[in-house]
Amino acid sequence: MRASFLQALALWVSVALVVSGDETSAGDRKRTTKHLRPVREKRDLEPIVGTKGAEILGGSNQQIAKQNPDALQPPPTDAGTGVPNLKWSFSLSNMLLSNGGFVREQNEWGIVTNGSVLVSVVTSSGKNQLFKADTGDIWYFPKGQGHAIQGLSDGGAEYLLVFDQGDFNAVGTTFNIDDWITHTPPEVLMKNFGLPNSSTPPFSTTPTSAGSIIPGTVGNGTLPKAMSGELTGSSSYYFASSTKNFTKAPGGGGQYLTVDSTNFPIVKSLAANIVEIDVGGMRELHWHPSGAEWLYFIEGQARGTVWLGSGQARTFDFTIGDTAVFPDNSGHYIENTSPTQKLCYLEIFKSDVVEDISLAQWMALTQPDIVAQLLNISVDAVKALKKEKQVIVKNTN
Ligand SMILES: *[C@@H]1O[C@H](CO)[C@@H](O)[C@H](O)[C@H]1NC(C)=O
Ligand SMILES: *[C@@H]1O[C@H](CO)[C@@H](O)[C@H](O)[C@H]1NC(C)=O
Ligand SMILES: *[C@@H]1O[C@H](CO)[C@@H](O)[C@H](O)[C@H]1NC(C)=O
Ligand SMILES: *[C@@H]1O[C@H](CO)[C@@H](O)[C@H](O)[C@H]1NC(C)=O
Ligand SMILES: *[C@@H]1O[C@H](CO)[C@@H](O)[C@H](O)[C@H]1NC(C)=O
Repeated sequence: MRASFLQALALWVSVALVVSGDETSAGDRKRTTKHLRPVREKRDLEPIVGTKGAEILGGSNQQIAKQNPDALQPPPTDAGTGVPNLKWSFSLSNMLLSNGGFVREQNEWGIVTNGSVLVSVVTSSGKNQLFKADTGDIWYFPKGQGHAIQGLSDGGAEYLLVFDQGDFNAVGTTFNIDDWITHTPPEVLMKNFGLPNSSTPPFSTTPTSAGSIIPGTVGNGTLPKAMSGELTGSSSYYFASSTKNFTKAPGGGGQYLTVDSTNFPIVKSLAANIVEIDVGGMRELHWHPSGAEWLYFIEGQARGTVWLGSGQARTFDFTIGDTAVFPDNSGHYIENTSPTQKLCYLEIFKSDVVEDISLAQWMALTQPDIVAQLLNISVDAVKALKKEKQVIVKNTN
């Protein structure tokens, strides 16, 4: 995920420049507005906010501009050039329509985003596991465990894979059994699998370049019995998120499910929150002490500002299929911007646990007089702050 994100970055930046190139030069056609926030309907698709900006005279991609109103008309609180583009849309990535049984030399975290799949895995100690993963369910394969994933739904199944290193597709990091078999001398295959000599070489019907996704038929879902047993309990590679109850956020704006080593013991290096935000709700201002955050948007639309300290802030808009990386220790929020639709997205961390620090809770639990002086507000206003982490807040208006 990361590799394609970075490769794609250059492309995206050039697109963004076309759209926002004029936003800082005060144009000839000055505009005024009585509103603190720009009236987007009026100056739709033009980089004009109040008296700043000017119309785009060259062409612009209206569809991209429409999806990124905060790039075109940043909130006045955005500042500096220190926050690079942190967003990438999967719609702009190459589709690899190719490549059944494979191994990855990396920890692999997967979530089913549509349909159901049948997953089988074999470990180095000869244990195996077979599970059906439905929409929302998660798996985790520690580095180098052989596995196969088969689609079960008529309309197709879709899943998102996350790796804790960027080069997941580099030579030597992934291998398919068909690829290996067809690149091994036939006499070695005969010896290895204990096959009798015959006029046709072994595996002569195996195609050389099947790739990692092949058409097939759905079997009866039974696994051969492993001598060492099946993976169960704390060694299971499967987490049935779709059967779990989400935690209602104290702030009343939605719910979330944390999937990390505390409830899914096999995960050591990838922890996640599945976050659902109601209409009007917002994931509160927070940051993560445990490292960078990867985001993936499953449903709805959102915006979020990344603040890096030193007055550097930039706002991004997100929709289905968008992904982003928010840097280690950056302050941010995610707001549901749809008037009608729930927002669902993933927060993923290269860590064994999900950790965050809430700005409001931090302020509420610090000496009130210090916070009051720092922010030039009343001590009473500080004392009114909620001491409990709100996680997802609801609309107060
Ligand atoms: C899954 O995909 C089908 C076909 O595209 C779509 O109709 C359905 O709404 C999707 N389901 C979910 C949960 O996204
Ligand atoms: C296998 O059998 C073929 C004839 O069917 C023969 O030419 C070949 O030498 C045999 N190979 C081995 C390793 O015995
Ligand atoms: C499932 O199919 C396999 C062959 O694909 C067969 O060996 C096995 O007996 C079948 N099991 C059941 C329960 O039907
Ligand atoms: C989920 O919550 C419902 C009630 O809201 C309860 O009946 C059920 O047992 C809970 N399930 C789990 C897995 O905790
Ligand atoms: C603090 O707020 C008061 C208004 O309550 C204002 O007059 C004053 O200028 C502010 N101080 C600073 C340093 O901004």
